[in-house]
Amino acid sequence: MTSMTDRKNAAISRGVGMTTQIYADRAENSEIWDKEGNRYIDFSSGIAVVNTGHRHPRVIEAVKAQLDRFTHTCAQVVPYESYVHLAERLNAITPGDFAKKTMFVTTGAEAVENAVKIARAATGRSAVIAFSGAFHGRTFMGMALTGKVVPYKVGFGAMPGDVFHVPFPIELHGVNVEQALAALKKLFAADVDPARVAAIILEPVQGEGGFYPAPAALMRALRDICDQHGILLIADEVQTGFARTGKMFAMEHYDVVPDLITMAKSLAGGFPLAAVTGRAEIMDGPAPGGLGGTYGGNPLGIAAAHAVLDVIEDEKLCDRAEQLGGRLKQRLAAIREQVPEIVDIRGPGFMNAVEFNDVTTNLPSADFANRVRLKALEKGLILLTCGVHGNVIRFLAPITIQDEIFAEALDILEAAMIEVRN
Ligand SMILES: Cc1ncc(COP(=O)(O)O)c(C=O)c1O
Repeated sequence: MTSMTDRKNAAISRGVGMTTQIYADRAENSEIWDKEGNRYIDFSSGIAVVNTGHRHPRVIEAVKAQLDRFTHTCAQVVPYESYVHLAERLNAITPGDFAKKTMFVTTGAEAVENAVKIARAATGRSAVIAFSGAFHGRTFMGMALTGKVVPYKVGFGAMPGDVFHVPFPIELHGVNVEQALAALKKLFAADVDPARVAAIILEPVQGEGGFYPAPAALMRALRDICDQHGILLIADEVQTGFARTGKMFAMEHYDVVPDLITMAKSLAGGFPLAAVTGRAEIMDGPAPGGLGGTYGGNPLGIAAAHAVLDVIEDEKLCDRAEQLGGRLKQRLAAIREQVPEIVDIRGPGFMNAVEFNDVTTNLPSADFANRVRLKALEKGLILLTCGVHGNVIRFLAPITIQDEIFAEALDILEAAMIEVRN
């Protein structure tokens, strides 16, 4: 009989990488079962999408109720109250004590594309600055903004113009805030007049790039530079949003407010929905009809998102993220005594990561990270790697994970790391 892997290889473009060959049959909160009945603890949450757990009963209930009413009208043709109400809620809860507006799309990459369109329309400028190691999606502008070539840009030809990158400060890798800001200054002197720059975009905590939080000093300096030159600051909160970092939005950890915020992933607990929220006058930059999309703000996603916001509040998931992250980091610190490959444990709230170097060369060890991932998978724990060197394991369990399952996962993690080490 042909295996699922063979069928997958024959039917699906190899361009779509798949990190496991577990074929999901059903999932509940922090657990996934495959067709054969094997059970896995999910520390990936579909890449930070189900912060509220797989099939949260309130999300399922909201979507079922919506299914029984209508599933699609296209909000640009026949709008619905829930769509406007969700925009009102996002305008109210996103950082910034000023009038805001929102627009809905379907994916994170689309949110990024639209944030750039809005920034360009509002400023009348075209250049955009992003950071090395950043990930902003796989569409053309998302790809151009992404600060990593392999695998995201390979073979895809010329990138859209007027996109520039500066180094992201990571002290562990020898780049500090002063050096990053000096590179930005040099960019303004050598490559692009700041008066031509529409926006600077960054993730408050780099996601795919390795779970590196942006230092507060960087964020403050960027805000000042943006204000000085009339540049907009875009926070890409696609991965950091919705309680993951211990706050509803990671930008709440800073004393700086962005002009635009992109969000997706956990916004709708597993249903495709993304949004851009920002200063009302900037959001109104594009002319009517310039923004939108057939499925943007689909009623099922909107219904799910209302339930997600309620769950985050009612179940105090920001506090829970802090507690779980604290326990995870404490356990990793204990494991580190037996695993000298661990060079860093980090991340706000429950957006945590562990980074590995080879003990002899002291160079990043993607091999060690990958072996830990595979060993954990063998033991029933799904982990994800990340980082420009691939030597980071990121932890993205649902914030609703049950205590006993979390404890079980930590035991598996410890056993996997120690077995790989020995
Ligand atoms: C920060 C960030 N921006 C944008 C994206 C792209 O989102 P999507 O895969 O939904 O297009 C991602 C996805 O991982 C992301 O982490």
